[in-house]
Amino acid sequence: MKRPIAYVAGTGRGVPKRVMTNHDFAALGLETSHEWIVERTGIVERHIASDTETTCYMAADAARHAMARANVAPGEIDAIILSTATADRLLPATAVDLQAELGARRAAAFDISAACTGWIYGMTVAEGLMHTGVAETVLVVGSEKMSAIVDWKDRSTCVLFGDGAGAAVLKRSKPHAREGILSAYMRSDGTLAELLWRPSGGAKIPFSETVLGDRSSYVRMAGREVFKHAVRSMSDACDRALDGAKLRGDDIDILIPHQANVRIIEATAKHANIPMNKVYVNVDRYGNTSSASIPIALDEAVETGRVKEGTTALMVAFGAGFTWGSMIVRF
Ligand code: COA
Repeated sequence: MKRPIAYVAGTGRGVPKRVMTNHDFAALGLETSHEWIVERTGIVERHIASDTETTCYMAADAARHAMARANVAPGEIDAIILSTATADRLLPATAVDLQAELGARRAAAFDISAACTGWIYGMTVAEGLMHTGVAETVLVVGSEKMSAIVDWKDRSTCVLFGDGAGAAVLKRSKPHAREGILSAYMRSDGTLAELLWRPSGGAKIPFSETVLGDRSSYVRMAGREVFKHAVRSMSDACDRALDGAKLRGDDIDILIPHQANVRIIEATAKHANIPMNKVYVNVDRYGNTSSASIPIALDEAVETGRVKEGTTALMVAFGAGFTWGSMIVRF
């Protein structure tokens, strides 16, 4: 396969208005502190969606910005891929709500469930659709309302997450173009699923009084274990993406990692031999927005001029599953 096949024509983000700081957890009666959260994670504040700011609402906001930047009308979109761990309802996919909301009448629409790695998975699937000729223009969105699935009584998880959406419009590359996806890598290990999961609330253990009582439909996480795997897997994924594009750490202008924890980001950058001044970090302002985190960061980097024509970006993610993956894109 000769790359590039697909390039990023536009990016956007959709972020809830309300900001919740670390200090605001005291009002919930949680025994935590701003100092603890900042020291362990780098997070200072996160956005929290209101009832009307649904996963679809935030996705549409991000998508409209990306489509405007790409100068793409709804009718030109061939496929909508929405990655989310927080679907607005279980059937049908939230992607079809987005399709209806945007009026993208010609588009196929489906959700991807790969947790924090979902947007990288989605971008890779989109590239595949272009390779086979099924699609020319694909909207890839990560939208997450994590506040709806975290346990607000569990200080070891609820302080980590935030809400938001990010999007990119991918278009088929012109022959001999230099810009576009240069490499992509995806992996998973389901033997470790129970280190970061929602035990109940699905078809296997449906909602019941018991489930509500034991709070087992909320996110549960073995933080230390997840931390170790995240560093190892994201480091591996950086190597694979660099190998795939025949590039070295020095060739990368900007690293845009999944924003879960600044210590994980620092360890990943060190492994890839990329100095921190080339790493985009916004986890302090958003917390972990799961699969929305990379496209939100990318959009901010575009807006502030850190990603511009000619920039080579390495994106790398890790999440529940476990899933992990990476991608190098030249803009
Ligand atoms: N405020 C205050 N104390 C807290 C706390 C909070 N919000 N959350 C946990 N603690 C306490 C624990 O109860 C524990 O207390 P104990 O020693 O009395 O039992 C202590 O802090 C240490 O907990 P531990 O879990 O070992 O801390 P840690 O240094 O591993 O940091 C995380 C915890 C969650 C920040 C860290 O493990 C992490 O970031 N893991 C990865 C999470 C992640 O990014 N997940 C998403 C991947 S996509």
